[in-house]
Amino acid sequence: MPKAFIVHDPYFKKAKELGYRARSAFKLLEIQEKFHIIEPGMNVLDIASAPGSFLQVIAKIIGRESKVVGIDIQKIDKNFWYPNVYLLQEDVFEFEKIKAYFETLGISQFDLITSDIAPSTTGMKWVDQYRSVELNLAILEVAKVFLKKWGNLVLKVFVGEDVDDLMGPVKQNFSKVVRMKPKACRDRSFEEYFICTGKKEEVERII
Ligand SMILES: C[S@@+](CC[C@H](N)C(=O)[O-])C[C@H]1O[C@@H](n2cnc3c(N)ncnc32)[C@H](O)[C@@H]1O
Repeated sequence: MPKAFIVHDPYFKKAKELGYRARSAFKLLEIQEKFHIIEPGMNVLDIASAPGSFLQVIAKIIGRESKVVGIDIQKIDKNFWYPNVYLLQEDVFEFEKIKAYFETLGISQFDLITSDIAPSTTGMKWVDQYRSVELNLAILEVAKVFLKKWGNLVLKVFVGEDVDDLMGPVKQNFSKVVRMKPKACRDRSFEEYFICTGKKEEVERII
């Protein structure tokens, strides 16, 4: 990424000023302003959290008595302003290991699941968008079990020709799906957020 681009990116500068770990914070804040998905008292799971700006936003809103759990394949710096952030370094495809971690926390289901997952990009749009669909399908499997009935799910998707492979299963599991591209997304990116509200089915709890 050219240095000049970073210096002139207003969201990057603002994130630094406000102490957010990444400019992504502003995407979640915009989603929150529009959909009010995060509420005080919720337990929230954030998948693909590194470096942790979604976690910063969520931890502040839910309050100290509630938990936000962050999972990422990369290590996340534990040093948060808030004491209610719990971290797991793991691959989203490792369902059993994720389940085992929730057991140690005593959480069987979450009120909300957010994800900002992005595959390592190859520069080939059709490959990247397909990997994004695969990652999001894995997240949907986690949500089917660990999201409460009527709970909401936020997904980040690289939209391309395979998007319906994701949209179909998502629509089967949620009452409503709204697609949005927050202003903080770079114009040239093909990412969108799917705001999936009202999870339909209660699955048998496994914790
Ligand atoms: C855009 S970043 C997330 C930024 C984060 N929301 C924040 O606010 O700081 C995308 C993340 O997806 C994670 N990721 C990609 N593949 C993953 C996988 N298979 N399992 C878990 N995390 C993954 C990457 O490690 C990366 O940290």
